[in-house]
Amino acid sequence: MGRVVAIAVERAGPRVAAPEQPGATGGGPLLPAQLLQEWYAANGRHSLPWRLTRDAYAVLVSEVMLQQTQVARVLPYYTAWLRRWPTAAALSGANTADVIRAWAGLGYNRRALYLHRAAVAVMAAGGTMPANEAGLRALPGVGPYTAAAVACFAGEQRAYVADTNIARVLARALLGVAGPREASAAGVRAVGEASLPAVAAREHNLALMDLGAAVCGVRSPACERCPLSEGCAWRAAGYPVGARPARRLPRFETTARFARGRIVDALRGHAALPEHELAERLPGVHAAKLAAYLAALEDEGLIERCGHGWALAGQGSTSMASPKL
Ligand code: ADE
Repeated sequence: MGRVVAIAVERAGPRVAAPEQPGATGGGPLLPAQLLQEWYAANGRHSLPWRLTRDAYAVLVSEVMLQQTQVARVLPYYTAWLRRWPTAAALSGANTADVIRAWAGLGYNRRALYLHRAAVAVMAAGGTMPANEAGLRALPGVGPYTAAAVACFAGEQRAYVADTNIARVLARALLGVAGPREASAAGVRAVGEASLPAVAAREHNLALMDLGAAVCGVRSPACERCPLSEGCAWRAAGYPVGARPARRLPRFETTARFARGRIVDALRGHAALPEHELAERLPGVHAAKLAAYLAALEDEGLIERCGHGWALAGQGSTSMASPKL
């Protein structure tokens, strides 16, 4: 979830936390590389299917799915997606509406469209997935986090992957603060880059990711099981708490994200629907904003006008034949 971190306020400067451990591999003495790798060898989630491949397209699919969705939820979608569209070539030839339908239940539907557009761009450029961060960044919908993750996890490149779990471990172990929200993005990135080993950066990033997920949790760090605890700056400082109050979130049903998801869900199940039927599927609080939601979804390429109503983009002539309009 929430893979790309937003970090705002610098509260503490970088601190060197631990002396280099015997066997640490180049790149900087910030983290005890060997202890981290031993922990990962024994405890890592090695069998996740996207960790068993170096295929850049498959890894891109996994990273896009994992951006806002939990691992357990992504697993069946990832498998089904790759069975249906095993290559960028296969995905590039898919119908947009089918791609949006295959995403049902994952949320943030725009991600499906971006994957599709990325596949089309790859095929237009000759059919080979870019291997480096700059090439990946040029693909539609691929931001700095995803480009670094694919370059590192598929291409084994030495890239800092700004995952939320990684950022939390780095902020604690090296900056002595409760999490990335208590540091600056630049500060976390600086220690993240400085702590990348010269070799095996892939395993380093995966180890930090799993450590953050399994041991160094947001509310319940299990320091007695942590290979970094000896030199952890946050532990040494007595676990200063995060100073920033958690944001109060609005009720989900009142958000644009909920309404947009509902609209796309409704259109997944119908060839087309008139606007008043879409309005009936939304809580009243959205009534005045329905036209704006529809216009935005149309702009983004998720839906299109169909007769007097709306359909998923790419429905083509089937939508015109809808008996509902
Ligand atoms: N393995 C590789 N990338 C991952 C991610 N984004 N989340 C969880 N496990 C991963």
